[in-house]
Amino acid sequence: MFGLGRKKKKDMQEPGESLILWGPAAGTEHAEQEEREREKENPGMIDGIPVSPGALPGRGKIVTFHSPKGGDGVSTVAANVAALLARHAGTVLVDLNGVGAVRSRFGLPSDCPVNILDWESAEDRRHISVYEHQCGLALVPGVVHYDDLERVNPALVFRVLGILKDAYEYVVVDAPPVNGANPAWAAAVVSDRVFTVITPDRASIDMLGGTVNYLERLGCEDRSAVMLNKAGVPGGIRVADLVDKNPLGVEFKAILPYSDAVMEYNNRRQVVALARPKDPFSRAVSAFTEEVFD
Ligand SMILES: Nc1ncnc2c1ncn2[C@@H]1O[C@H](COP(=O)(O)OP(=O)(O)O)[C@@H](O)[C@H]1O
Ligand SMILES: [Mg+2]
Repeated sequence: MFGLGRKKKKDMQEPGESLILWGPAAGTEHAEQEEREREKENPGMIDGIPVSPGALPGRGKIVTFHSPKGGDGVSTVAANVAALLARHAGTVLVDLNGVGAVRSRFGLPSDCPVNILDWESAEDRRHISVYEHQCGLALVPGVVHYDDLERVNPALVFRVLGILKDAYEYVVVDAPPVNGANPAWAAAVVSDRVFTVITPDRASIDMLGGTVNYLERLGCEDRSAVMLNKAGVPGGIRVADLVDKNPLGVEFKAILPYSDAVMEYNNRRQVVALARPKDPFSRAVSAFTEEVFD
């Protein structure tokens, strides 16, 4: 046992007193009871923290994309999937990844102040602050200054996602690596689906195990899948070696090819799947979107 102090002799115990090893401080029993009642009503909560998709009410689905490390194509995949979904369903893309990615990718005017911190005081959907992009997709860009990054905390993530889930059919999250070093875990625990994007690249592959393990510990295992991006990239590990020999022991939910058009259209601030639907990457990301979000 852990430093419980000296055990009282039986005859020294007050009537009705029992040894408390680990319990609520005096006076908190009532609050704990109330909390248990609330948890019974809403099984997705633990200690007031949402820990499963069901914990956030709302009709929408939350889908998080992240990768073990930067540069694997999370923003690209999230933006393309979100833009494709937005053609048929109310969809919002949320940037939890700090400064810039969504803002830059979609060419938001540099003086556009809309950003995730607008949500700090938002309570319901009447307070929604999104940028409506011409492709029909709503955007919640990241913070404007790096100094503000620490204000994107788990409480803000739950607040933003909770409100958006009630207002949109799909809430797509462009997240930093879910590894405990940032608030992306908060998005993962309430997501209906979590996709880990990797590339056929040694660093990406080596870090996959740790990422998968972290998601398991968060209880996201059944809702998680891995996708391979930049398949066939020059110098990359051969896809056949990853799929046939399966050294990673994972089944890829999607294999998205490397394509020059991706970078070209990203640089034009266009969504390649919309602008060049016949491109191999566009076809693959469309097939994935149709299959998963039917
Ligand atoms: N399938 C792909 N084919 C070619 N280039 C890609 C592909 N996916 C992403 N890229 C390029 O890789 C770079 C990193 O992509 P990005 O989406 O910003 O990654 P992340 O958000 O994971 O850091 C960008 O230059 C992007 O254009
Ligand atoms: Mg990114």
